[in-house]
Amino acid sequence: MSLACSNAPRETEHTFHLSVQAIAMKAQDNQRLTQVGPGTPGGTLLRRYWHPVALADEVNPTLSPDWAARPVKPVRVLGEDFVLFADESGQLGLLQRHCPHRGADLAYGRIETPATSRWGAPADGLRCPFHGWKFGVDGRCIDTPAEPESSRLCDRVQARSLPLRQAAGVVWAWLGDPAAAPPLPHWHALQAPTSHAFAFKGLWRCNWLQAQEVGLDPAHTSFLHAFFEDETDLSASYGRQFRGASAGDADGQKWPMTRIMREFHRPDIRTEASPWGQRITTLRRIHDQLMHVRITHGLFPNGFVIPLSETITITQLHVPIDDTHTWWVSLFTSFAGPIDHATMRQQRLRANPAPAYAPLKGAHNHWGYDAAEQQTQTLLGMGQDDINVHDQWACESMGAISDRTQEHLGTTDRAIMAHRRALLQGMDAALADPTAPLPGLPSADAPPPETIDGLAPGTEPATWGAWAQAQMQVKRDSAAWLKGQPKLAVGAAAAAKEAS
Ligand code: FES
Ligand SMILES: [Fe+2]
Repeated sequence: MSLACSNAPRETEHTFHLSVQAIAMKAQDNQRLTQVGPGTPGGTLLRRYWHPVALADEVNPTLSPDWAARPVKPVRVLGEDFVLFADESGQLGLLQRHCPHRGADLAYGRIETPATSRWGAPADGLRCPFHGWKFGVDGRCIDTPAEPESSRLCDRVQARSLPLRQAAGVVWAWLGDPAAAPPLPHWHALQAPTSHAFAFKGLWRCNWLQAQEVGLDPAHTSFLHAFFEDETDLSASYGRQFRGASAGDADGQKWPMTRIMREFHRPDIRTEASPWGQRITTLRRIHDQLMHVRITHGLFPNGFVIPLSETITITQLHVPIDDTHTWWVSLFTSFAGPIDHATMRQQRLRANPAPAYAPLKGAHNHWGYDAAEQQTQTLLGMGQDDINVHDQWACESMGAISDRTQEHLGTTDRAIMAHRRALLQGMDAALADPTAPLPGLPSADAPPPETIDGLAPGTEPATWGAWAQAQMQVKRDSAAWLKGQPKLAVGAAAAAKEAS
């Protein structure tokens, strides 16, 4: 048993041994897990879910000068290419990128309004510069100006047009059967009003599953994001991951998350399947009277929800651009006052400037690695201001598609293992039946997933379980936008189970 920690108890060794056997991955499974294109098992599964294709910021003429000048934008998602554009009224359309006539690139199309239209069809639309065919936001062909005047060809042509929704600061697209598009999931992130929601994104040059698995790995925070010293002024932590204090206090003191993560580095990780994917409870025992409790959720298949601070959560989705490129899209949701959009946007644009949203740091400049910092300030040596680059390094440095056949997984990887199993099962189910029920597509009465990060009095499950439930209730009560919504018994079953 060379791979287990030498001081691990016998029972853990046994569990670990089983885990390694269970997850020794075949190359074929790694391929299934990482392919996203049409017709692949993974692509078939992913097409059962809504995916963000743009930030609301990107299609806001006030915030995006490019969009104001010309509201047309190429979009690549799940290995397919589309063109996003807006008509004069601001209505969006997402069409196949290649013109239905002979395949020229509609991202070079001419935006037309009734006033600027050339040839026929004085209407809003996107006109292909090759032979002048014109399409509305719904994909309808509205002009074929080279055809004889009596031609009815246009009536028989329809560009593929995807259903779209706008919510939580994001434009969402449905790539599956348009007739089968379900409602957006009823996460809190999608219930909050615009004032309490903010979205941002960034590009990572790796497969989406590498990005997703960071969020299912509660142990990495003690190392990848380890700061050797804490900031003394916790009030400067707004919008910054792990810089705030945990909820609750330790013997009358507020503790920054950085201290807890650093000093208590052997977490007890518990996972359980939920209608959304899996609920992950990470326990760090501070002393006999105090337990650090962090409850997060994996959102099947490609997201997670975690606390950013006592009052803000991050719902993060990992949207496959293709097999080797991914957008991380973070939806910030405030359960207290309105979000400071300007601060949040500014903080993030520094590292991922618009309009490309590509990070300034990456493999080309070693992600900003500083050997001196690594010796004295952080374990990684890639700065303390923006921890996103830490996760980016972890994901990208594995290679564009991680070779999972070479891994040696430990007990802390149990949420990752469960997720991979669920993905493979979900692919089989989705291939066998396009309407098969899947995790992450729960009925409307399933309570939204909730998170907590804080110091609970007592180390017994009944005590910290009750504390976690109470904290979640406090968070719900503080969200004015949740008032009047039907009360759901959030996590009650899980709390009862833990208490038993
Ligand atoms: S290719 Fe677009 S109009 Fe001919
Ligand atoms: Fe991380």
